[in-house]
Amino acid sequence: MSFYRTALRPLLFQLSPDASHSLAQGALGFALPWRAVSAMQGLEVSDPRLRTRFAGLDLPGPVGLAAGFDKNCDLLPALSSLGFGFLTVGSIMPDARYGNPFPRIVRYPETESLGDSMGVPSKGRAYAVERLRSFTARKVPIIANIGGFSAEALARGYFEVAPHVDAVELSLMCPNVLAPGEHFDELVVLADVLKRIESRTKPVIVRVPNDTTQSPDRMAELIERSIEAGVEGLKVGGGRRAPEPGLGTQNATLHGRVIREAALANVETASRIARGRIQIKGNGGIGTAQDVLAMLKAGACCVDLYSAFIYEGWTVARDIHRALLASPASDLDRLAAVADHPQ
Ligand SMILES: Cc1cc2nc3c(=O)[nH]c(=O)nc-3n(C[C@H](O)[C@H](O)[C@H](O)COP(=O)(O)O)c2cc1C
Repeated sequence: MSFYRTALRPLLFQLSPDASHSLAQGALGFALPWRAVSAMQGLEVSDPRLRTRFAGLDLPGPVGLAAGFDKNCDLLPALSSLGFGFLTVGSIMPDARYGNPFPRIVRYPETESLGDSMGVPSKGRAYAVERLRSFTARKVPIIANIGGFSAEALARGYFEVAPHVDAVELSLMCPNVLAPGEHFDELVVLADVLKRIESRTKPVIVRVPNDTTQSPDRMAELIERSIEAGVEGLKVGGGRRAPEPGLGTQNATLHGRVIREAALANVETASRIARGRIQIKGNGGIGTAQDVLAMLKAGACCVDLYSAFIYEGWTVARDIHRALLASPASDLDRLAAVADHPQ
C-alpha cells in the first residue's frame, strides 16, 4: 500500500472533495518537489515495451491523464514528471467562466468513483494559451481538450491552441440556454466544426459525448462522419448522469469504477463500428493494468484516467505501467502492434 493511500489520502478525504481538489492542485503548482519525488520513486516510463501510438502521437506509455484535472494548463511542469504517457489539459473554454455552484464534486469511496457538476469553470482560452506557450520542458505529448458551445467557438479554439500542443480533443458541449426553436445536435455541430478546421495541421480527437454513447445509431453516425473528415482519434468513455442531492446542481456526472463496465462496452461498440479506420482512446474507471488490458482488447490504443489519480495518488501511472510490464508478453503485443502501425 502506498504512502498516499495509507497516510495522505485519509487526511485529504477529511476535507470536502472541492477543498482537497484545490489543495492537490495547489501542491502540484510547484514543479521542483515533484521532479525530486519522480526521480526518487522512478515515476517516469522508459520501457520500449510500453510504447504505443494514438492519433499520430508516439506515446511512451498507454496510460494518460484525462481532461478536467488541469483545466487551465497551470500544472504541466509537475504533471509531466508523474509518469503519464500523455497529459490532457482543459477543457479550455473560449472565455473565463465561473462554473456551477458549489459543492461541485462528490466522492463515492466504496466504489472509488466520483460525481461532478463542475460546469466547466475556466480562466479562458487566452490564459491557457499563454500557459501552454510558456511551458517549454515538454516530456510527454500534450493533448488540449477544448470546449465550446458552437462550431465557431470550437474552430477558433482549435486554431489558437493547436500551435502549442501535440493534438486537440474536441468536446462538443450543449449550451445551457438554447434560443427558442433551437435544439442541440452534436452531429451537426461536429460536421460544421470539422469543415471549419479543414486546413488543420495537428491531429484532432473527437470526444464522443456521453449522451451519444447511449445511442448506438448516433455513435455510428458520429464515427462515420469523423472518419470521412479524416479525424485521427476518438475518445470513448462511459460517463452518465445521476441525481445527486449533495451537489449544488443536484445532479452529477459519474466517473470512476462505477462506469467501468459501461465504458468498456462503449469502446467495444465503437471499435466494432470503426473497424480499424480510426483509433480509439478508452476512458472510464481505469485503475489497474487489468482495466487497461481489457480496454486494449476491446479495441483501444491507449487510455486516460482521472478518478484513479484521486484514489491512488501520484504513483498511479507508474504502478499501472509496471503491472503491465509484468503481464504476459502476448498482452503487451497489442501495444507493440499499435506502436509499429503506420497510422
Ligand atoms: C472533477 C472532474 C472534472 C472533469 N472535468 C472535465 C472537463 O473539464 N472536460 C472533460 O472533457 N472531461 C472532464 N472530466 C471527465 C474526465 O476527463 C474523465 O472522462 C472521467 O473522469 C472518466 O474517467 P475516470 O473514470 O478515470 O475518472 C472531469 C471529471 C471529473 C471527475
